[in-house]
Amino acid sequence: MGKRSADLGQIVSDIAAQMRDQEDRGAVANYIPELAAIDPNQFGIAVATPDGKLYTAGDAGVPFSIQSVSKVYALAFALGSVGDQLWQRVGVESSGLAFDSILLLEQEKGKPRNPFINAGAIVTTDTILHGSSPKELLGALLRFIREAADDNSIHINEAVAKSEIATGNRNFALAYYLRSHGNLLCAPELTLGTYFHQCAIEMSCAQLALAGRFLVSAEGMPQLVSHERARRINALMMTCGHYNGSGDFAYRVGLPGKSGVGGGILVIAPGRASIAVWSPGLNQFGNSKLGTDAMHLLAKRTGWSVFG
Ligand code: DON
Repeated sequence: MGKRSADLGQIVSDIAAQMRDQEDRGAVANYIPELAAIDPNQFGIAVATPDGKLYTAGDAGVPFSIQSVSKVYALAFALGSVGDQLWQRVGVESSGLAFDSILLLEQEKGKPRNPFINAGAIVTTDTILHGSSPKELLGALLRFIREAADDNSIHINEAVAKSEIATGNRNFALAYYLRSHGNLLCAPELTLGTYFHQCAIEMSCAQLALAGRFLVSAEGMPQLVSHERARRINALMMTCGHYNGSGDFAYRVGLPGKSGVGGGILVIAPGRASIAVWSPGLNQFGNSKLGTDAMHLLAKRTGWSVFG
């Protein structure tokens, strides 16, 4: 089922209006001090379609910290650099556990379940960092994202990166644990410094929806990875993109998505659209509460689903 363009404009503004009035907006992440101060009364949505249109509503122009959404770009970059060799160091199974859990790492001898939980993302960043410098890698990653979005103004928020370096004890624990199993090639400080900077990239919903177009696989959208690779990344977004909330998101929305604790979610409707939603308050899984609700509504109104 498809939706005419005129309808999409109406749908996104209806959703933004509905989200504006919500009282229960979830809780803003407070373990990264810079994020704790963000006003939860914000909501943005943007939908980029293959005909070159961008539908926006609410706070779609306000930049936010993309946090774990950056793991999608690091994964695409890593697959481009080392291909399937990545899977020797990280798996492709959902973990059923919180994004920062260390539990399975002991049982599974330092091989993280997937590239979207923190342990797996740290290994992914370590893989592409090995043999270059944090500055070079972050520059290359930013170039990839800027090309995807066709926007050279996308940048890293240094204060957010510093804030997480100062408080990221859990990620340091994960990194040292990975290193003890031989699954971290660079010094933990280097890999984590790079990872925290990658997470501190800022984008608005409008920029993120444009930056996600390379995963839609539609004529008229940038094709920075092969169709086969885009499919695989989408499969991982569907099964692991929301951590222990992945089943809930797949059930309610039926589209691949990747969330971040900044409150952003990038969602792909294959062949149809790249969608970004943002609201800083999080649900019990650490995913945007209103962002998830908004995507539920959008999927209902458009009929978009990978399940037909
Ligand atoms: O490593 C962290 O904890 C954060 N930089 C990113 C975590 C995150 O975004 C989880 N997503 N919902």
